[in-house]
Amino acid sequence: MSIFRLSIVLGTEEVVEKELLSKFPKAEIVGRTKGKIDFQVEGRVLGDFSSLLSPLRIQDTNRGDEDLYKRGWRKAFVPAGINPSLAYVLCDLAELNEDDVVLDPFCGGSTIPITAVMYFGIKKAFASDISGKAVDISLENWKASGVKKDKFVLFRSNVSTLKLSPKSITKVITNMPFGIRVGNHEMNKKLYRNFAFKLNRLLKDDGSAIVLTQEKELFEEVMKNDFEVSVEMTPEVGGLRPNVYKVTRKSVKYFVK
Ligand SMILES: C[S@@+](CC[C@H](N)C(=O)[O-])C[C@H]1O[C@@H](n2cnc3c(N)ncnc32)[C@H](O)[C@@H]1O
Repeated sequence: MSIFRLSIVLGTEEVVEKELLSKFPKAEIVGRTKGKIDFQVEGRVLGDFSSLLSPLRIQDTNRGDEDLYKRGWRKAFVPAGINPSLAYVLCDLAELNEDDVVLDPFCGGSTIPITAVMYFGIKKAFASDISGKAVDISLENWKASGVKKDKFVLFRSNVSTLKLSPKSITKVITNMPFGIRVGNHEMNKKLYRNFAFKLNRLLKDDGSAIVLTQEKELFEEVMKNDFEVSVEMTPEVGGLRPNVYKVTRKSVKYFVK
């Protein structure tokens, strides 16, 4: 029997194994090394695994390999754009369902919101970015995705002036500027505060956010008044180890006199 080897984004093991075992329940994991998961499964060939969307690549130890991160709709991308496999992992962590209205206010090429609509069947996605170029790139990708126009709204906006109805968003999933390739730490201080303010305004009471960022201290600082944050994973991204945070509102406390 062949051994298949998945190459993955370091740090995403848990989600990749979950996807593998839910789509191929008979798969048996036979090895785990840094960034690789080996498994066996009877009667399968390399091409059968193209439905896996969280790993980067699959290799049949005797018969070649196949990329799993490529998406036919990803025609164009922005600098510091997220890998589509990691976008899938973030959407999985968000526990999306068909009632979710998802916002990515730093959408770049819309890799995250397109993933949320196409593979997680959400109700609607809002994708915005301050850059007109990013919006053009996004439009190309949305068009190539074939997603119907009533499933998404794409627009240009600074996060600080986002105009959406209060509490209209159930999930925010986003890859924030790290202040390294996009922006810098000084600019981020204001940007991250504006993001926290908007999140508080736009997120439903029981909504949540999944945020990828390298600005760990700053992020935790701006969230701490109104939100609880937990670190879900620390994937490798361009040689860095940013955190993926899950954010929920602090529970409302009722005081009885
Ligand atoms: C790290 S990239 C996100 C990339 C995206 N996830 C993708 O895969 O293409 C950050 C994005 O934030 C945008 N951005 C920076 N400052 C912003 C602001 N104040 N408001 C909205 N978007 C902003 C940039 O234009 C850039 O496209």
